[in-house]
Amino acid sequence: MQELLEKIDKSLLPRHVAIIMDGNGRWAKEKGYDRLYGHFHGVESVRNIVEGCAELGIEYLTLYAFSTENWDRPEYEVFGLMELLVNTIRKEVPVLNKNNIKLHVIGDMQMLPEYALMELQEALDETHLNTGLNLVMALSYSSRWELVNAVKNIAFDVQAGKIDPSSITQDTLQGYLTTSAFPDPELMIRTSGEYRISNFLLYQLAYAELYFTNTRWPDFRKDHLYEAIIDFQSRERRFGKISEQLHHEHAAH
Ligand code: IPE
Ligand code: IPE
Ligand code: MG
Repeated sequence: MQELLEKIDKSLLPRHVAIIMDGNGRWAKEKGYDRLYGHFHGVESVRNIVEGCAELGIEYLTLYAFSTENWDRPEYEVFGLMELLVNTIRKEVPVLNKNNIKLHVIGDMQMLPEYALMELQEALDETHLNTGLNLVMALSYSSRWELVNAVKNIAFDVQAGKIDPSSITQDTLQGYLTTSAFPDPELMIRTSGEYRISNFLLYQLAYAELYFTNTRWPDFRKDHLYEAIIDFQSRERRFGKISEQLHHEHAAH
């Protein structure tokens, strides 16, 4: 683990890492347990990765914890996940404060049960002065929900005369997204061997480097994170240009 850590170039860290934490259910099933047992163990991975990101000095970590579509899972699993979420958040606030971590949430909060909302709000209030890692939990989140919501709010503001449609730019749209206060993720990790985005940050991932691993989320630990970052650092991010231009720009600086 130490060796992997030493391979990371601290001057080339992604500012924002986003993770689709997938594979809890299969992890549990493979061991002959109930799916909820997998979610329960997934919490340990969350702790470990949050700590790992804070130690590295990463500024933003977004975790996809529950999608809008996940509401359609069997009631038993949805309820179990909500319970786990509320209990975990309640327990972790002192740890977040100790590590100077500021909690944020993105998603359709109106879908959450009242008790979960109250717990969340408390955790947000209690960590809002922290200045270290920004931990963004995507809860009841889906990118299409977010984009529709943004378009709706822009339309309302046009109607109210607050914005002129011809002045709308990428920055305007960005300002209406739930992630308006965060830079776009530079590295997106999905665990558990699925090669899809599943309605996660479709707009914001435009130029993110994507990293897929077969490791199930409950098995994902700091060394897996380090591997993903090392892989990220080996890639050439061209943003539409050609390689020579990038080297030229480097030389010019
Ligand atoms: C990810 O694990 C956690 C959530 C979606 C809440 P899954 O529950 O999707 O586990 P698999 O993909 O079925 O194994
Ligand atoms: C994506 O995982 C959502 C989260 C990890 C919270 P899913 O397991 O819901 O995605 P699909 O159904 O495999 O695409
Ligand atoms: Mg899944």
